[in-house]
Amino acid sequence: MNEEERFVQSTKNLTDAEIENSLRPTSLDEYIGQNKVKEALSVYIQAAKTRKESLDHVLLYGPPGLGKTTLSHIIANELGSQFKVTSGPAIEHAADLAAILTNLNQNDVLFIDEIHRLNKTVEEILYPAMEDFALDFIVGKGPSARNMRLKIKPFTLIGATTRAGMLTNPLRDRFGVICRLELYSPEELKIIIKRSAKILGVQIDDDAAGEIAKRSRGTPRIANRLLKRVRDYAQVMGKGHVDKTIADKTLQVMEIDDLGLDTIDRKILLAMINKFGGGPVGLDTLAATISEDATTIEDVYEPYLLQLGFISRTPRGRVVLEPAYKHFGMQYVAK
Ligand SMILES: Nc1ncnc2c1ncn2[C@@H]1O[C@H](COP(=O)(O)OP(=O)(O)O)[C@@H](O)[C@H]1O
Ligand SMILES: [Mg+2]
Repeated sequence: MNEEERFVQSTKNLTDAEIENSLRPTSLDEYIGQNKVKEALSVYIQAAKTRKESLDHVLLYGPPGLGKTTLSHIIANELGSQFKVTSGPAIEHAADLAAILTNLNQNDVLFIDEIHRLNKTVEEILYPAMEDFALDFIVGKGPSARNMRLKIKPFTLIGATTRAGMLTNPLRDRFGVICRLELYSPEELKIIIKRSAKILGVQIDDDAAGEIAKRSRGTPRIANRLLKRVRDYAQVMGKGHVDKTIADKTLQVMEIDDLGLDTIDRKILLAMINKFGGGPVGLDTLAATISEDATTIEDVYEPYLLQLGFISRTPRGRVVLEPAYKHFGMQYVAK
């Protein structure tokens, strides 16, 4: 089950994707939190605009749902540039990427989502493109083969990835700006929830927004998704107004506990405690035990469990820490 499918689907006319788009902030001012990243980007954007040059290439990394795609749109908006979107797995052949690159206009933004999933031959096209705004070709075969260089217009590449560690060094080195997005605080998520509620036309009490924020695992996408479910309950039970009781009730039905842990988080922790004595246990072993994808565990679930101080990563594997035992009302035996 991937992160997109974790929660019961809404029965509203708008799809989740459409709602997600409608909730996307479009300027840096509207983009809540990530203050260090915003400050830095705002300076680089101003400087690039003043010099009428393309912005340096930007790498955004962090867990899913933290606002990488949103921020990329915003960067293009703030630059007043066109925004072209593709993704690592979508580009199969080097020629596909070459075609995209030659069609870019001056100072356009090209967004490559999941950039760690580019294949090697495609990735190699990017090196001269990013560095010299050029494409290198070999024309002909055998002894008569020669190198050709084709200039392309200066552009900005924005790469997004959940795993910066999987990028090759030559690719990573070609990004002038590397930004790591952090999990959001409950206060920031509360602002995001209230903003989304306004856009969706939902009345929500302050303490209800706070409760959803607390249980959103630091992630705006989850905050928005919980808000939509709570809205459904409010429509059925309370004439559309979301108060704390309705928020609590919805979260309880969704089996999201007071820290925001869902059934899969609990499955991960309890397997580690009950089957592996609290660890250390290797990621793949753990994944096999609970029939979840190792990448999903690492990208989607672990960041928040790490932030809570519930687990730690050691060279010998994952270990469950005392606060997790406390959370389940279990006895912790120090090792
Ligand atoms: N800083 C933010 N402020 C307000 N809303 C945000 C912010 N970051 C993300 N969101 C919301 O969360 C949702 C997911 O963001 P997205 O950019 O798709 O995440 P990612 O690309 O990192 O997976 C979007 O619908 C957006 O509305
Ligand atoms: Mg995205």
